[in-house]
Formats: sequence, C-alpha cells, structure tokens
Amino acid sequence: MNITQPVQDIINRQINMEFNSAYSYLAMAAYFESRALQGFAKWMRLQSEEENVHAMKFFDYLHDRGGQVTLLEMPKPRIDFSSPLEVFQVSLDQEEKVTASIYDIYELAHNERDYATVSFLKWFNDEQVEEERSAADMVQRLELAGDNPEALLLLDQMAGQRSAAE
Ligand code: FEO
Repeated sequence: MNITQPVQDIINRQINMEFNSAYSYLAMAAYFESRALQGFAKWMRLQSEEENVHAMKFFDYLHDRGGQVTLLEMPKPRIDFSSPLEVFQVSLDQEEKVTASIYDIYELAHNERDYATVSFLKWFNDEQVEEERSAADMVQRLELAGDNPEALLLLDQMAGQRSAAE
C-alpha cells in the first residue's frame, strides 16, 4: 500500500522538525564553544548530528514507501541564553515537542490504517525516552550545581565524555 498524502505531509513536517532540532543544537554548541565550555559544546554537537540522522531516517523511509520528500523552510535558531541551565531547559522543551509530534504521526498513521508507519515509528518512540531523559538529567544536575563554578566545570567535563553512539 502506498503512503497516503496526509501521512506523507506529516512525515515531511517531521523531517523539517528534526533538521530544525539539529540546527538548534548546533546553535547551542556554538553558545558553549564561545564560553570555553567544550564538554557541553561536544555534547550539543553530537546531539545535532543525531538529529540529522533522525531526519534522514524519515527521509529514507518516505522514499522507501514511494513518497515524495519536500524540504520546508527552517527558522533561525535561538542563539542566546542566560545560562547553561537555560540551554538544557530549552533542549528538554524541544525534545518534549518532538515526542508530541511523533505521537501525532502515530495517531494519524493508525487512523489511515498505515501499519508500516506505525511499526517504523517504534524506534523513534524508544529514542525519545532516551532523549528526554538525558536532557532532563542535565537540567537536574545544573540545578544542583547552581552558581558553583567548580560543579559547572565538573559537569562540563562529564558532558564531554559523551560518545557518538549515545
Ligand atoms: Fe530527533 Fe531529539 O529528537
């Protein structure tokens, strides 16, 4: 069964959202780079790369189903933040929006009786649990660190240990 127009449209929207996330994480990486917090910068850069991978998974899936990829416009990402804590709060908020968007695709795919898409989305569903968890953990740790520069530098070091596979 070929993909229906509504499912195709919502997947194109999701491709845009994932590339947007990648762009936004890159802006966060730049924020940290300019403040000599290279560990957080690395974390954000890897996250940006992951979002590109997510976008390309949807891109490839749409082609696998005989659909048409349409790349949409991207807004300028936010580049300024009041603190490292705010960066991760924005990141968590962004991930929650992505999760909600994945649920919207699920709902539509069910309504369209598109069970191939339902099955494809399982990976993203599991991935979002991880994505929200790692952003939420960092928010909690930064809240604990408060205004303590030593704790912040320790967290920066910890964030820098992130590997590409996470
Ligand atoms: Fe692709 Fe972080 O959601």
